[in-house]
Amino acid sequence: MTESIVILDFGSQYTQLISRRIRELGVYSRIIPFQTPAEAIKDMGAKGIILSGSPYSVYQKGAPKPDEGVFSLGVPVLGICYGMQYITHSMGGVVQRSKQREYGRAEIELSCESPLFRNMCTDARHTVWMSHSDRIEKIPSGFSIIAASANSPVAAVQHMTKPIFGLQFHPEVSHTVEGMRILGNFIDVCAITQKWNLGEFIDASVKELQNTVGRDKVIGAISGGVDSTVASVLTQRAIGDRLKLLFIDNGLLREHESREVVAALKAMHLKVTRVDASEIFLRRLRGVTDPEKKRKIIGKTFIDVFEKHTSGKSFTWLLQGTLYPDVIESISHIGPSQTIKSHHNVGGLPARMRLKVLEPLRLLFKDEVRSIGGLLGVPGTILSRQPFPGPGLSIRILGDINRQRLDILKKADLIVRDEIEKSSLSGTLWQYFAVLLPVRTVGIMGDERTYEHVVAIRAVNSADAMTADWARLPYEVLDRLSSRIISEVVGVNRVVYDISSKPPSTIEWE
Ligand code: XMP
Repeated sequence: MTESIVILDFGSQYTQLISRRIRELGVYSRIIPFQTPAEAIKDMGAKGIILSGSPYSVYQKGAPKPDEGVFSLGVPVLGICYGMQYITHSMGGVVQRSKQREYGRAEIELSCESPLFRNMCTDARHTVWMSHSDRIEKIPSGFSIIAASANSPVAAVQHMTKPIFGLQFHPEVSHTVEGMRILGNFIDVCAITQKWNLGEFIDASVKELQNTVGRDKVIGAISGGVDSTVASVLTQRAIGDRLKLLFIDNGLLREHESREVVAALKAMHLKVTRVDASEIFLRRLRGVTDPEKKRKIIGKTFIDVFEKHTSGKSFTWLLQGTLYPDVIESISHIGPSQTIKSHHNVGGLPARMRLKVLEPLRLLFKDEVRSIGGLLGVPGTILSRQPFPGPGLSIRILGDINRQRLDILKKADLIVRDEIEKSSLSGTLWQYFAVLLPVRTVGIMGDERTYEHVVAIRAVNSADAMTADWARLPYEVLDRLSSRIISEVVGVNRVVYDISSKPPSTIEWE
């Protein structure tokens, strides 16, 4: 059993980040529901327990509470923000309710004696990131204060005899300058010896896939994106040709994409069949302009096509490139969660297909999937591809979708990719693409009045697509994009640049 640090999820927006940071420090971490019984935590081989933050106040009705047994397992516990307030509250201290939030950078002074702050005593003050309303008024007996800031006289606590710690600030956020050192010190307290190593993860996954699948056959849908490709290569390594893959061309892919992706997958010796389903997708989308309807139609059609090409064949398993963030989202039901856009993936296969789901990447974050892809020999052209949404160009064609409008967008998009890749900006951008707007504007070409389409360019910087900032593209690049699109793409007489960030906008237009 891999030694790990478990994170009890009380619904903080930073929970995933804590897990990522622990893994970056070379230790396996997993996020589990806050109410997981202490016995189960022990059985998981947990060497440390982190209590996450939460949108709740400890006094609020319905505030999440862990199994009290977690404090007597003898395993070190670190409470972060709400986690620390919970420890204080449940052990007899006083948490003061406050409507006022302390949000942003703060300076703390810390006690050098704490093992949590080992090797941090060269500086008297440290910058940390605060994001809380309630604060600790009185610590429980048996605890001592190990850090203080002007606004939070109790910025960190430690039990005097047991390995229980609390931090009011967020060590996982990069604005906490020594945050990684603090988490690293907690790992030392946990005395973990086993390192989380992606090479070993591959070997273990291959064995697990072989045991799980046995002599069965596996089917998967592959898009050529990072997740489905890495999941396929890993599975193929385990079971060889018993993995069959379908590349469903929905007609909404970028210029040349279908051909290029299939060639790249075949070069990796994957058994992939290309299904040209553009006709049925475009037929069903005819006249549909509502973004949610488009997404639903595409999701349903995808399933129909997939089912048609697999039914009657003897597949037992369905391979999916599900990643850890998706798994976490479905185990934690705290905090605001609302469908902003219904994302399309292969998730909702009808029960009648009776396929069992195989998710070899379900424990990994995106950057870990990229690293594993590299170790498995997936080419850089695939690993560094910009994200491309399942519904494809349909959500970048505002209004009616037809072959003529698709053609315009594909040509404009190709120019955007070409110029940005030539300018060597592509490595720094999260996504860059063209959008076809549902309006026409007046222009003049030669001596003639024109009344034609408008193309918008979208380029964003982002770390995880949760937030994004519009990219400050150099004027010369914007200039080349505009001139080339207007002169080379028949039917376009105007180009605009999208200068909205997410939130409040989203990356895609629909
Ligand atoms: P938004 O537009 O919500 O997009 O800011 C965030 C990221 O998700 C991608 N995206 C999708 N990916 N299926 C996907 O696989 C979808 O339905 C979908 N919709 C948006 C988008 O390109 C961006 O990277």
